[in-house]
Amino acid sequence: MRTVRAVAELRAALAPARRERVAIGLVPTMGALHEGHLALIRRAREQCDLVVVSVFVNPAQFNERSDLERYPRRESDDAALAAAAGAELLFAPPVEEVYPAGFATAVEVIGITDRLEGATRGSGHFRGVTTVVTKLLCMAMPDIAYFGQKDAQQTVVVRRLVQDLNLPVRIEVCPTVREADGLAMSSRNALLDPDQRSRARSLFDALEAARGLAARGERSSEALVDAALQTLGSFGVDPDYVALVDPETLEPLEQLAGRALLAIAARIGDVRLIDNTILEPTPASTSSQKALQGEAIATCNA
Ligand code: PAJ
Repeated sequence: MRTVRAVAELRAALAPARRERVAIGLVPTMGALHEGHLALIRRAREQCDLVVVSVFVNPAQFNERSDLERYPRRESDDAALAAAAGAELLFAPPVEEVYPAGFATAVEVIGITDRLEGATRGSGHFRGVTTVVTKLLCMAMPDIAYFGQKDAQQTVVVRRLVQDLNLPVRIEVCPTVREADGLAMSSRNALLDPDQRSRARSLFDALEAARGLAARGERSSEALVDAALQTLGSFGVDPDYVALVDPETLEPLEQLAGRALLAIAARIGDVRLIDNTILEPTPASTSSQKALQGEAIATCNA
């Protein structure tokens, strides 16, 4: 696997593949790769002839300087992991390559970015994400780009962006990969101390509490959210939000009447974590993790 840092080098490296019309897959990341990222790379490997992984800690999407400064950076480990998962190219540009002097353009998705993460982190967060994702798509021009369900709102925003700007790329969303206790894998998990790590499972447990209640027939959003809040409270975790929303529009729901996204964000100490699950008002939705994964795989293949 080759590492390239300049857009011109990336384009030159992809030119033969483009001439031969082979399928190019792009997995955008901010590095500190874990199994969640590697699952995206492996999926890209299955579906594409050439896989590019980008590693760029995008300053524009961080709303807290301290979060940006301590974000884990491990490029040589990332290169080895990406290669082992099947990537041919690692694109790891310096900040000046992505945002050269005089850079003055932003790409903004309106409305759905105001809710959930946008409401808590401010409008700049998603503007940073959509601007850098647009740039990465223009730089690599992949046939398929891969995103994780763990960042559910990000996938909704990216799909909107691609549709609205007529970008010629297919967006694939892959299931959330979890630790054995259910904690969604995240580069930020590395920042948790042992006590925080043991309380971090509360996000998954809260999702499961709501899922269990829904499986027993509860349809009231308030009751489902309350079950999640109680679980978080039992771990001493006070969330930024717990919300049951429409999975496409992200509008709040009063009742669980169809597919719904239950999303949580919480700080454990000073590490901010997010997680989510899809709830459905069918007897088929059970509280087991197997069911959760099955459902997520169905999302991926949809
Ligand atoms: P990052 O947090 O590094 O995540 C890169 C991709 O991996 C995202 O699509 C994310 O949803 C996915 N991912 C992270 N943890 C996952 C898990 N446990 N299971 C499955 N997928 C997981 O998201 C970003 O970077 C950035 O916002 C980016 C899109 C790269 C733009 O800067």
